[in-house]
Amino acid sequence: MTDIVDLRSDTLTRPTPAMRQAMAEAVVGDDVWNEDPTVIELERRTAEMLGKEAALYVPSGTMSNQVALRSHTEPGEEIITDADAHVYFYEAGAPAALAGVSCRLAPAQRGIFSADQVRQLLRPRDVHFTPTKLIWIEQTHNRGGGSIWPLETIAELSQLAQQQGLRLHMDGARLWNASAATGISEQRYAQHCDSVSVCFSKGLGAPVGSAVVGSREFIQRARRFRKQYGGGMRQAGIIAAGALYALQHHRQRLAEDHAHARLLAEGLAALPGVEVDLEGVQTNIVVFGLKAMPAAQLVDRAKQQGVLVLCRSPDTIRAVTSLEVGRQGIQRALDVFRTILSNK
Ligand SMILES: Cc1ncc(COP(=O)(O)O)c(C=O)c1O
Repeated sequence: MTDIVDLRSDTLTRPTPAMRQAMAEAVVGDDVWNEDPTVIELERRTAEMLGKEAALYVPSGTMSNQVALRSHTEPGEEIITDADAHVYFYEAGAPAALAGVSCRLAPAQRGIFSADQVRQLLRPRDVHFTPTKLIWIEQTHNRGGGSIWPLETIAELSQLAQQQGLRLHMDGARLWNASAATGISEQRYAQHCDSVSVCFSKGLGAPVGSAVVGSREFIQRARRFRKQYGGGMRQAGIIAAGALYALQHHRQRLAEDHAHARLLAEGLAALPGVEVDLEGVQTNIVVFGLKAMPAAQLVDRAKQQGVLVLCRSPDTIRAVTSLEVGRQGIQRALDVFRTILSNK
């Protein structure tokens, strides 16, 4: 059997030998006591890179989001986000279950909405209404197909938030991809936001971990909620070393993943019965529509030939490029899709 070409997600990336070496050699301490030098260094670098006062290392992107959400709000308040946002769609109801907040959904295109759209959702202060506390955006937008929030749109939202006394949070699980694609630094995107969560375990390839960044006071509060949510880790330097390695060595290679996504999208666009919005392929995620057969059928048949992709809906499929798949893998995936679609 030839190697599997795994295009299901960039969360499947495995640590490289050099990353494992860095993890094996990590200097560690008790992180709940704030005594793990490797975690402290990772938090320092992450905060510095994003231009914020402080950062907190947490076990997952979901926890970084939930800790940030809880730190910004009190139960009974609401946030404004979009219906496809990870925090709303994929976090198991945590905003309601853990923070006790509701989500008000802005109409969005591929996950992106404007300050005007948010303005229309705002209500006067009145005992009948749920107090709005936070605007929440996702960069890049996962279900939006890796779409990139333009810097000006974020700046406009930030202005609106300031005028209205709201906060702005960015779920930047794939902020690195946005920066690699546009050349706009992570710090410039983050400067408009009160807090940002970032993941080391997606395209950057670390095995575990995310961080939330913001003001010193905000991170102090977040540290308490991380403990409350069970995310206080002990000798976490071992995994933080993987994240540090990823930050230092894997950001530069994300452009490769984007080139592979483009190669895949262009190849798919040439196949019979496949629909791809080529302009919509902006980073490492390719969503394509199928007219020729149900998506689940293509996913199954491709799997039998060692190519793994995900069904996103009955007639759309998602493929994500990462350091697990090289150019040859992309060519093989295209060959497999071509064979299946020509012999359906
Ligand atoms: C945009 C976004 N935010 C947050 C997360 C959550 O990360 P985790 O799976 O580490 O909890 C993901 C996961 O894919 C994501 O795509």
